[in-house]
Amino acid sequence: MIGVFDSGIGGLTVLHWLLKELPEYDYVYIGDNARAPYGNRSQEIVYEYTRQEVEYLFNSGAQLVVLACNTASSLALRRLQQEWLPQHFPDRRILGVLIPLVETALKTTKTGIIGVVGTRGTIASGAVTREFEKRKALVRPDLARMEIFSASCPLLVPLTEEGWIDRSETKRIMRHYVRELKQKNIDTLLLACTHYPLLYDQFSAIMGKKVQVIDNRAVALSLKNYFERHPDIATLCRSKSETPKRMFLTTDDPERFSNLSSRFLGEQIEAHHVAVL
Ligand code: DGL
Repeated sequence: MIGVFDSGIGGLTVLHWLLKELPEYDYVYIGDNARAPYGNRSQEIVYEYTRQEVEYLFNSGAQLVVLACNTASSLALRRLQQEWLPQHFPDRRILGVLIPLVETALKTTKTGIIGVVGTRGTIASGAVTREFEKRKALVRPDLARMEIFSASCPLLVPLTEEGWIDRSETKRIMRHYVRELKQKNIDTLLLACTHYPLLYDQFSAIMGKKVQVIDNRAVALSLKNYFERHPDIATLCRSKSETPKRMFLTTDDPERFSNLSSRFLGEQIEAHHVAVL
């Protein structure tokens, strides 16, 4: 079974692509809605909350967990992989969303001038920029230059959760957030937040035709590739039954979670409450 973790509802935009590209696997999704959003929280808190949720998923039978949250991938993933996992669950795996997104942006860019938008925590951590620096030589050795410009867009999480997708107020706020990125003439924009794919069309329209916008499909394609390279883990996660399992857990109100799910996942699901501490 694959565990999918997010601070709340946003990771469903990642799960949407996982279900499309890898439907033959069992999934358990957990959203820590009781303590969301994580975007403005400190590194220590994001690490501790993420660790508790991942532990819950492993204890529920997940062999591999995808941190379908950019903030957790930026602030907690490395420490979980390097310090916690080898001691507590040495045979399990945790993957994040940053590497697939960064690699896709690198493969897409022509000029090497790339923009990144995310929560305050993601942007302030510098994790996305570091990932670009680490991967450039490997993925795009031909690229003469690379410049990464980033902007945090903290109001976009509550606005998308409120369903303010097509509101003029939201577009005005988005234009404000990306003004500097536009001035830098980026040719690729990476949406490094689970909620922003809901605003994909709006970002595309604001940035203009010359800018390619990268969203979460990259994460699913990368997991597919990972399973090809690790068939033993793929076998453990693949469903043994004709109807693969889909379980949706939230640490807060399951009704609100279920109501929001159609917008973020593309289908209405039934969520269940769990207490994770
Ligand atoms: N899931 C978070 C992310 O992708 C956004 C919501 C939050 O701030 O918790 O960064």
